[in-house]
This record gives sequence, structure tokens and C-alpha cells, in this order.
Amino acid sequence: MTRKFDFQTVYQREGTRCVKYDMRNIIFGNSTVLPMWVADMDFPSPPFVIDALRRRLDHPILGYTFRDSDFASVLKSWLFRHHNLSIENDWVQFVSGVVPGLVYSILTYSNPGDKIIIQPPVYTPFFESVKDHDRVILENPLVKDDSGYYTMNFDDLEQKAKEAKMIIISNPHNPVGRSWNHEELFRLGEIALKNNLVVIADEIHSDLVLSGAKHVPFISVDERFKEIAVTFYAPSKTFNLAGMSTSAVVIPGEKLRKSYELTLQKFHAWLGNMMGLETYLSAYTDGDEWLNELISVLDENRNIILEFVSKYKDVLSISGPEATYMAWIDFSKLGFTDDELKDWLINKVGLGLNHGLGFGTGGDGYQRLNFACPKVILEHALSLLSAELDKLK
Ligand SMILES: Cc1ncc(COP(=O)(O)O)c(C=O)c1O
Repeated sequence: MTRKFDFQTVYQREGTRCVKYDMRNIIFGNSTVLPMWVADMDFPSPPFVIDALRRRLDHPILGYTFRDSDFASVLKSWLFRHHNLSIENDWVQFVSGVVPGLVYSILTYSNPGDKIIIQPPVYTPFFESVKDHDRVILENPLVKDDSGYYTMNFDDLEQKAKEAKMIIISNPHNPVGRSWNHEELFRLGEIALKNNLVVIADEIHSDLVLSGAKHVPFISVDERFKEIAVTFYAPSKTFNLAGMSTSAVVIPGEKLRKSYELTLQKFHAWLGNMMGLETYLSAYTDGDEWLNELISVLDENRNIILEFVSKYKDVLSISGPEATYMAWIDFSKLGFTDDELKDWLINKVGLGLNHGLGFGTGGDGYQRLNFACPKVILEHALSLLSAELDKLK
């Protein structure tokens, strides 16, 4: 397939202070593992985004900068084009990152000691942002069938919701790669409405839905859900702009929005980064074609992984992913303890993956592999893995 954009050049990322490569020693105790962990991509950000940054630098004064209505309108138009979601400009606010946004939401809509539901195995900062602020985690663990396919446990959620103030969902879900469907989100929303829960919908991975699946925004499911939802979006995963610290929150309900704005005022958290703004505007304005190509590359990489896992199906298994560029791989049939698995992957295989237990309940025996990289890197990683797996036979 001929593509307009380049997703196959291997860039030397060492020495750029990038977390993925330059923090290997700290994370893995080893600076030579092939890093396939933290959620950024080994692809360059789109060339038109880099050009937008360059154009801004043609003016040498980098002073205080504000966001005009373009900040909301480019997101509004993007969400309509890509997810058939209609929003109003007034519902949109800047946030420097989705995780800080989760924290502002927790501080706004709950008090110390309140219970907040999360659905493990799930993105680690969901745990931290609740615990760090003396709220209490109520786990509503995902359930999986024999094929490893994850769904929500609604019976358990019905019970937990009676005691909780809020629920934080990952839609699509990191790390299990589910793209929640209309029916699932409807059931969740009904339970939230019945129990007066605020729903924090982290939709940072919403653009990274692979072929065969579709993203359903939580607030698109039912008009009533707009009154109880706070949704986060960002170009950071989609366009590999995590270093730019520019994301957005969408709060349709006036009551929820006003109280969130009060929290922002208290933290003086509105200024943001001028260069981040340039990249955000450019990506959401011009990014459609680039994203189409990215998805086709991610589809190919997903297929490479699925084929690999099926070749080793006696010891490995995986379901999906429907979305995200994360493969959530079950290594439990190898029979290692968690510490042995970690040690084997780092010191024998030479791969730096995210250890499953970091995602909480249900992470036991799993590893998360980031496959957003040129094909040669992925194939090299899998060849390292197959060499060690073959030795275990
Ligand atoms: C579900 C989810 N939310 C949030 C983030 C990070 O968001 P930010 O860098 O904007 O804080 C990630 C990054 O991996 C993620 O997977």
C-alpha cells in the first residue's frame, strides 16, 4: 500500500529526553531493552503539525498567549467528522493533560472519603488520582470469557453504584483494547443516572479505533447522559503529541461545568502552552488523512501480533484489540510467577513492556505491548520473544 506519510522510518529517539527510551534504566534497571511500553508512538508527529510549530517560531516573542474560539471549534468539527458527535463550543475547556483533568474532576465532584468506581485492569493513574486525594477506590473489575474477551460486570456495578459518587471509564479501554458499544454504555449510563453518579469518560483513545470497530462517545448514547458526564479528549495519543500538554474537556451540563470551572480558577490552571496550542489546532484541522493512514499501519501491526500469538497459542493468548495501539497479552500459561515473568522479559528476552499488575486487579500474568512503531521494530521485538519462547519448549 502506498502512503503519503512516513510510518516506517526508524528514528533514533535516545538523547531526546524521551520517557520511552531515556528512562529505561530507571524503569527496567537496564538501558538496552527494546522499549514497547509507555503510550507514545515511534512515528513522527505529522509534518503539517511540525510546520505549524515552525511557522509560529518565525515570530520570536513567546509571551502570554490565550486560546480563542478556535480551540473549541476545531474540536467540535473533529468530533462531528470522526464520531458523529455534536457539541457546543461553550462546553469545551482547555486542560493541560487528561490525568490532571481527572484530578480536577475528582476534586470538583467528590469529597475526601467518597467512593469512586474504576474498572480494572485499567490505566494506572486512575488508581493514583483517586488515592492521592483521599478518595476511596471501588473496583468494578472487568470480566472476561474463555476467549479472553472483556466485558463490564453490570450486576457488580449496580451494587457498587449505590455507595459511590463517581465512575471513571476508559472509552476505549486501556489496556484491554475494548471499544465499548452503545448497549454497554447505555447500561452503564442508566446505572449512573439512577444512582446520581458523575461519569468521567476518558476518551483519549477514541480516534485510535482499528478496523472492525467504532467509537461510541458516552454522551452520544442518550441525551440525559449529557447532564452527568465529563469527557476528556486530546490529540496527544492520536497524533503523537504527548509532550505538548494540550487536551480538552467537554462538559455539556451547566451545573457540572460551572463547578469544574471554579476548580480551575482555584488552581490558576488555564494558561497552557503556546506551542501545544499550535499543534492541537493544526492536528484537529488537517489531520484526517494522516489519521486514516495511521490506522491502516496500526491494523497491519495488530495483524502481525495476532498471527504471532496464534503461532504460540499453547502459551500466549490475546483478544482484540478493537482500539488503542496496545496489545494486552496473557503470558500466564508459561507458568512463571509475576516476578519471574518480569525478569524473563527484561533480562532474557530484552523487551521493556508494561507489567500487567500495574493495571491492578486482573493484570496478573499479563503484559501490555505498545505496537505503534515501524514494522521492523515490531518484527524485531517478536523475534526476540520467539527466540526465548522456543528455548522453553
Ligand atoms: C486512558 C488514558 N488516559 C490518559 C492518558 C494520559 O493522558 P495525559 O498525558 O493527557 O495526562 C493515557 C496515556 O496513556 C491513557 O491511556
